[in-house]
Amino acid sequence: MEKPIRILGFAGSLRRDSCNKALLRAASELVPEGVELEVFDLGGIPLFNQDFETEMPETVKEFKRRIRTADAILIVTPEYNYSVPGVLKNAIDWASRPYGDNSFEDKPVGIMSASGGMLGGARAQYQLRQTLVCLDTHPVNRPEVIVPFASEKIDDRGRLADEATRQRIRELLESLIVWTERLEK
Ligand code: FNR
Repeated sequence: MEKPIRILGFAGSLRRDSCNKALLRAASELVPEGVELEVFDLGGIPLFNQDFETEMPETVKEFKRRIRTADAILIVTPEYNYSVPGVLKNAIDWASRPYGDNSFEDKPVGIMSASGGMLGGARAQYQLRQTLVCLDTHPVNRPEVIVPFASEKIDDRGRLADEATRQRIRELLESLIVWTERLEK
C-alpha cells in the first residue's frame, strides 16, 4: 500500500468560533482517501525573538518538525487590516529561521481565506503569496478559495454549511495533491 500524502494545515486566527478554523475543519472532512490532514494550532507559539532562533522554544521546534515532515501545507487566513494577522506572520517567521533552516523550503502550499467582508480576505492572500515566494515554496494558483461574508456560511455548530464553498475546498485539495505528486517526481 502506498504511503498517504500528509498535509499540515494551520489557521491564522486563534478565535474559538473562527470562520477560518471552520474552513480548516471542513478541509479535514473533505480530503480524499489516501490523504491525511493534520492541524497545528498556532496558539502556543510565542512572539518571535531573534535572540532565541538558534535555541527555539519547544512549540516552535515541533511546528518546524511538523512542517518539515509534511508533504504539503494548507494555510487558512483571515484578513486583518488588508494583511495577514500577526499570529500567522509570526509563526511563519519562526519556521523560516535560523537562516539556512527554512522549514517551508520547496513545499507545495494551498491557501484559503475567509472574512466577514465582501472581499473574502483576497488582499491578505496576495500578501501571503508574496511571503511564500520569499520562503521558496510552491503555492497552488487555482482554484482560489476566497470566502466572503463567511459567518453567514457557517452554522451554529461551527460547520461550514455552504455547499459551493465546500466544493471549492475539495477542488483546492485535489489541486494541492496533484501539485504535490508532480513536485515529488
Ligand atoms: C478584521 N476584519 C477584516 N475583514 C476584512 O475583510 N478586511 C480587513 O482588512 C479586516 N480587518 C480586520 C482587522 C482586525 C484586527 C480584525 C479583528 C478583523 C474582519 C475579519 O474578516 C473577521 O473578524 C473574520 O471573522 C476574522 O476571521 P476569523 O477569526 O473568523 O477566522
